[in-house]
Amino acid sequence: MLVKSLSILLTLTSVLGLTLPSLDPSSRRETLAEAAHNARVLVKDLKTGTMASVYPDSTDFAGRPFAMMEYHAPCYSNGSLTLILMPISRSTQNIFQNPGHHVAYTVSMPTEGVRSPMSRGRVALMGNVTTLRDISTSQAEKLSKCYTSYHPDSKYWLPGNEDSPHTSYWARLDIDRIYYVGGFGDVHYIGPIPVDLYAKSEHEVHDEEYKFLEKDLDQMVF
Ligand SMILES: *[C@@H]1O[C@H](CO)[C@@H](O)[C@H](O)[C@H]1NC(C)=O
Ligand SMILES: *[C@@H]1O[C@H](CO)[C@@H](O)[C@H](O)[C@H]1NC(C)=O
Repeated sequence: MLVKSLSILLTLTSVLGLTLPSLDPSSRRETLAEAAHNARVLVKDLKTGTMASVYPDSTDFAGRPFAMMEYHAPCYSNGSLTLILMPISRSTQNIFQNPGHHVAYTVSMPTEGVRSPMSRGRVALMGNVTTLRDISTSQAEKLSKCYTSYHPDSKYWLPGNEDSPHTSYWARLDIDRIYYVGGFGDVHYIGPIPVDLYAKSEHEVHDEEYKFLEKDLDQMVF
């Protein structure tokens, strides 16, 4: 009973991002460096995310947020993401029509079968999007090769594909702010990740491994 109430308390405080000493003295907290690495692995392993944009002044919904699933591909060593923008999409229209071209792009660990989805890692990458309209054929080929390695189905709507049902453009999301939630705050890092640290964490991503801690709160009984 005591353990149960403690766990509930721990869960509640963790959800609020506060930390309490762990019930298990052998556990430790995810470090900032691990968080940067884990965020890069998340973005590499997961093929889709949620793109948040803002309705532009010219619309009835001016200033209101809009979020929808998109594809990304981690084709830059410094963490910038490759996107395909289609003028038919609401997200693309919001990006094109806002002067700063700002977005937030969130990637989250899958939660199926997990007792407490709140214990799962997620990261929000904030920045601005540049449309790559004047790239060389060889640059476009590199992007196609990288992008289709993550999204084989996208070959039907790659920029420049004459059979594509919609006009599309290559684009790059450059990141200037990162907010990471590793899971519950007593064992996971929660907070900003410096962009420089994230940018440098690439070489470690090749080992593919999500650096963490055998022990996770969702395996506990609560
Ligand atoms: C990453 O590289 C892209 C493309 O060269 C550049 O535009 C962007 O500013 C870089 N971002 C960082 C954080 O270095
Ligand atoms: C994105 O932001 C950078 C620096 O914050 C700026 O230099 C660049 O012009 C912006 N790009 C777009 C497409 O607005």
